[in-house]
Amino acid sequence: MQFFLDSANIEEIKQAWNMGVIGGLTTNPSLVAKEGKDFHELLNTVVGIVDGPISAEVIALDYEGMLKEAHVLAGIHPNIVIKIPMTEEGLRTVKVLSSEGIKTNVTLVFTANQALLAARAGATYVSPFLGRLDDIGENGLNLLADICEIFQVHNISTKTIAASIRNPVHVTESAKIGADFATVPFGVLRQLFRHPLTDAGIEKFLADWKKR
Ligand code: E4P
Repeated sequence: MQFFLDSANIEEIKQAWNMGVIGGLTTNPSLVAKEGKDFHELLNTVVGIVDGPISAEVIALDYEGMLKEAHVLAGIHPNIVIKIPMTEEGLRTVKVLSSEGIKTNVTLVFTANQALLAARAGATYVSPFLGRLDDIGENGLNLLADICEIFQVHNISTKTIAASIRNPVHVTESAKIGADFATVPFGVLRQLFRHPLTDAGIEKFLADWKKR
């Protein structure tokens, strides 16, 4: 499993990229809106930092509108992946983009059937939202496991992105299940590095070293 960062904050993106562990970025309209910047300007900055897939979401909900936005976003940089919501119009758009060689990430996936449909439309990635399912008393990791199993059984090349990650347990379990990617918020990414025994060990080694 590889890591993407889930953020639209330039400072976080720079820091995460410099950590050397993330391979790409996902954004969504809420994350972008929080930054209060022009979307295209933001993406132009981001493509200079992240050398890997960068998911940018369309806002339109109709096929023509999504396709138009997708073409503009894809024209910004070859690393841009078009994030499309899991709807009938969305998958129609994915089908066309896929035939044009434009990469897509079908977002807001909450059932295995949605993931299978997205794959059949030619999606490059599907993003099951683990945390949001947990929030309503369902089990996001079970959904991820179902999708990974179905994709394996049917030899489907669409990649899975474990999304809406809320904690390090989501990350470990997603890796065990076999997700291709996990997109993690900056806070969770930092948590992954830490363990109190690592800190205590460093402190003890340095204290002993000073006693020489
Ligand atoms: C994924 O691509 C989404 O941007 C993201 O993971 C959503 O996470 P949230 O449910 O924490 O908003």
